[in-house]
Formats: sequence, C-alpha cells, structure tokens
Amino acid sequence: MKFNMADHSSIIDAAAAYVKEELAGAEGGHDWWHIYRVWQQARHIAAAESADMLVVELAALLHDIADPKFHNGDESIGPARAAAFMQAQHIPEVTATHVVNIIRYMSFKNGLEEKVFHSVEMGVVQDADRLDAMGAIGIARAFNYGGFKNRALYDPAIPPNLHMSKEAYKHSSAPTINHFYEKLLLLKDRMNTATGRRLAGERHAYMEAFLERFYKEWEGQ
Ligand code: ADP
Ligand code: NI
Repeated sequence: MKFNMADHSSIIDAAAAYVKEELAGAEGGHDWWHIYRVWQQARHIAAAESADMLVVELAALLHDIADPKFHNGDESIGPARAAAFMQAQHIPEVTATHVVNIIRYMSFKNGLEEKVFHSVEMGVVQDADRLDAMGAIGIARAFNYGGFKNRALYDPAIPPNLHMSKEAYKHSSAPTINHFYEKLLLLKDRMNTATGRRLAGERHAYMEAFLERFYKEWEGQ
C-alpha cells in the first residue's frame, strides 16, 4: 500500500484514538494524559533535533499501551500490540520496525540494563518520557503512584537505596520521597538530546526546591 504525507495526520489521529481506548481506566500516572504529554513534548524535541516525526509520534503514542508493571511483568505485550496496530494501518515496514524497537528498549528500567538498540528518534521519545517524570508533573505522578501502592510519603528511618537491581527496583516498597533519590534526581544526567537536557535542568531545579521545602515543613518550619 502506498503511503504519503496526507496519511501522516490520519495515522496519528487513529493511533491517538486507539491508545485512548486501550488506556481507559489506567492508573493516573500512566493514563492517556501521560501519553498526551509525552507526545507533545516529543514533537517539540523532535523539531529541534530534526528527527523523523512519524516515527517519533507513533513511538510516543504507543510506548505505554501495556506497561509490564500492570501485566505481570510481561514486556512483550506492548510491542506486540503496537506492531499489530501499525500493520492494520498499513504503516511502512521500516517505520513500524523502528517504532517497535523504540518501544521494546524504552521499557528497560532507567538504563539499569544495557541498551541494545538506539536511534535519534528513540533518544527523543525517551527524553520526553523522562521529562514527564520530572518537575511539577513528575512530583504529582510520584505521589499518585505511591498512593496507588499505598506507600508512605516519607520515613526518615528508611534511607534511599542507590544501588538497586532491576528486580529490587520493581519490588521496592519504600516511601515515595526515596523515589526522588533512586530515580527522579538521576534523570537529568541521562538525557539524550540537547533540548532534553535543557528542559531537564529546569525541572530538576524545581524538584530540588520542592524537597528542600518538604523537609522544612516536615519539621514544622
Ligand atoms: P517508566 O516511565 O520508565 O515506565 P515507571 O513506569 O517506573 O517508569 O514510572 C512511571 C511514573 O511512576 C513516573 O512518574 C515515576 O516517577 C512513578 N513511579 C515509578 N515507581 C515509583 C515509586 N517507587 N515511587 C513513586 N513513584 C514511582
Ligand atoms: Ni511513559
């Protein structure tokens, strides 16, 4: 089947509609609005980094359709569903394969495991996804996730664990504040693109200011 530019927006519209439906009822930090934010951020970064916009948009839209956290740790469901969707839409093979690779390798936790695939487009989408875990939105998502898991906000007696394996990270039940030290404050040094790094710097500073104030308020100051 032939593919042209006019197809771009109808494919993206179809992908957005598909993802919205797949994520109906998802937990607040991983719902359609997470996808929406990552999609918009990825478009913004892609324009500055001259990345392939169709690959970036599809990967951003499809990157979390079946989070392993909510599928018994199965990491193959998301990429398989994305591939089936793109095949049904007659997306060119080379584009679809690229998108599936991005989705598959983005799901690895924090780069705790060695990456075996990389591209400019993957860097863009990963930066956008990481930015959504930082700043005001990142703080909101962390406490939302902690509430979903019934975790304490903070416990001065439980220090952060900076050397967790992927398994330990998945099964951690530590207070939400620890997550800032275990993941969120590490993200600014893991950005792939210059645009991502700049945005991450701002969001990082906002989280540091939040933590400073949190500890003050904790002690009644
Ligand atoms: P990824 O975006 O790589 O899939 P996660 O699914 O682990 O990462 O995280 C999604 C969101 O949930 C992020 O905003 C993240 O900060 C938050 N989150 C994940 N694990 C925890 C945790 N242990 N405590 C608080 N928030 C968490
Ligand atoms: Ni995501």
